[in-house]
Amino acid sequence: MELSWGRRYVMVEPTHFRVEYVINPFMDPADQPDPQLALAQWRDLVATIERLGGTVEALPQRPDAPDMVYAMNLGLGLVRADGAEHVVLSHMRYAERRMETGSAHPWFAERGFATSYVGRDGVGAHLEAGDAFAFGDALVVGYGPRTEELALKHLASDLGIRVRGLRITHPGMYHLDLAFCPLDDRRAIVCPAALDEASAAAVLALVPEPLVLTEEEALTTFCANSIVIGRTVVMPACPDRVRAQLEEWGFTVVIVDVSEFHKGGGSIRCLTNPVDVRIGRDLPSVPGGEVVLPPV
Ligand code: ARG
Repeated sequence: MELSWGRRYVMVEPTHFRVEYVINPFMDPADQPDPQLALAQWRDLVATIERLGGTVEALPQRPDAPDMVYAMNLGLGLVRADGAEHVVLSHMRYAERRMETGSAHPWFAERGFATSYVGRDGVGAHLEAGDAFAFGDALVVGYGPRTEELALKHLASDLGIRVRGLRITHPGMYHLDLAFCPLDDRRAIVCPAALDEASAAAVLALVPEPLVLTEEEALTTFCANSIVIGRTVVMPACPDRVRAQLEEWGFTVVIVDVSEFHKGGGSIRCLTNPVDVRIGRDLPSVPGGEVVLPPV
């Protein structure tokens, strides 16, 4: 069954995108993005999403927040069991990105979203929403480099859902969205090399039909950092082997070049934030919440 979410996206128009500091292994301030090309690539991505039947709402980029273009990390948007739209705002690991939620918070609130935090400066836990995906019977959340384990407990109890944690150990796959991409209710792209041994086993047990990427495929092509709209996978690049499997499963691959954004360490998924995951439809409602962690 195809994904029912992934049709409504929040994005940030890249008017102040640059590589100003280094918080992941891809970033190098000596290798700056071309602003015109970045904007053209971003517009191409928006047009592709719209052509495939998705919608995009864009918020302006703060001049002091060069990484804000990676809108996936602003927060985790969900439709709650009571029908209310809700966003759990991220609490970024690095101070360089923390001001982003200062703009995202009022933007979501003005659009009718209920808002909450699982951590803010000095209290609670780090959460970066690029680590979280609805899949199977749970919200699957990567933790380690960015999101902290404590955030999983807060998410589960605050939202009344099951959260399944995966421990990320690879410094180059610092968000789960660089190593995991749900394709439909049974299938997902996964790169177990991003995870420790127990979590690699856990993710393979979780996905009935995994499309397993090598470490090299994930790191050099960003192909896990893709989005799915119905039966179409919008990808920054696609190795032939991966394309053959996707097509055999009935998916259409559409490539959108977002090379400028790879300079900051993110690709298509990082630029897009789906806010239409529904508790009770895409994730079971679990009153009181439940956290399932891999064995240590
Ligand atoms: N420079 C950004 C950072 O390191 C890139 C974010 C990529 N986003 C993502 N969802 N993986 O935070």
